[in-house]
Amino acid sequence: MDQASGLRNIVKTDSLSRRGVSMPSGATRTFPRVMSVTSGKGGVGKTNMVGNLAIALTEIGKRVVIIDADVGLANIDIIFNMRPKYNISHVISGEKSLHEVMVTTHHGVNIIAGGSGFANMTQLTHGEKLNLLTEFETLENMADIILLDTGAGISSNVLYFNSAADECIVIATREPTSITDAYALMKVMSQEYGTKYFKLLVNVVDSKKDAKMVYATLDNAIGRFLKNVVLEYLGNIPSDINLQKAVLHRSTVLDYAPDSPSSQAIRDIAGKIASSPIRASTDGNIKFFMKRILDAVN
Ligand SMILES: Nc1ncnc2c1ncn2[C@@H]1O[C@H](COP(=O)(O)OP(=O)(O)OP(=O)(O)O)[C@@H](O)[C@H]1O
Ligand SMILES: [Mg+2]
Repeated sequence: MDQASGLRNIVKTDSLSRRGVSMPSGATRTFPRVMSVTSGKGGVGKTNMVGNLAIALTEIGKRVVIIDADVGLANIDIIFNMRPKYNISHVISGEKSLHEVMVTTHHGVNIIAGGSGFANMTQLTHGEKLNLLTEFETLENMADIILLDTGAGISSNVLYFNSAADECIVIATREPTSITDAYALMKVMSQEYGTKYFKLLVNVVDSKKDAKMVYATLDNAIGRFLKNVVLEYLGNIPSDINLQKAVLHRSTVLDYAPDSPSSQAIRDIAGKIASSPIRASTDGNIKFFMKRILDAVN
């Protein structure tokens, strides 16, 4: 069997065991919920939301893995003050397993550093793809939620990760450029990848009213121009100096100022995510998630 047909067989076999289906033994398998955090505009708080949401979800009993999918300035490790020695490139080359690359914070959050590994996925050989697919399968039994920290912009790399995720959390602020870029991202995702459902998180606001205005602006534009796309309001995070200070201390705000307004808001949102049913645009397990990315780059 050549590598390509091996890859096809693996994926074919896997299509029989989709999310939550009954297995022959009678046991029901559940698969991690893959959520991308994305924005269009840079610097709106994606990395901080991913890091802090991961901690807050861990606090309420969820097993969380963060994948740093930002091929440019990967910096999730900065707010956790960790320096992962290896990244996804070592998994692709077969030098390391995913578990050897993963680092675990003192909260129990697992982080997979992307580095430049995710940048050249169009050039992966079949063997390298197979390495990725088989390694990602090992995440299935150890994670409830996988959070993807995407880069800024609407580069093809950002779009691959968003389209492969089960759910897409879009972050916007009150700044007009942020609202326009969030709309542009949802437009391209819906038109090119058929994504029909997004969750909106409005960051750096002074009031809930401001956040609702951002939501209304985007929801109106979607209603007028993007057919069948649904935008759900996930919540808002206040503008909080504690969060800025936390970053300067290479810390998450949940660690640095656990009772600050932004920490409380992030905990509320984590609770909302944990209690909300998954509303995936696609159904599939973690190997399918990687398969979808690999398909997208070909
Ligand atoms: N709620 C908030 N209150 C105050 N400042 C904030 C808040 N959220 C984010 N910031 C500021 O924005 C900065 C950028 O945040 P972050 O690095 O998380 O953005 P990003 O979207 O991941 O950026 P990039 O697109 O470069 O990856 C933070 O260092 C912090 O100073
Ligand atoms: Mg970032």
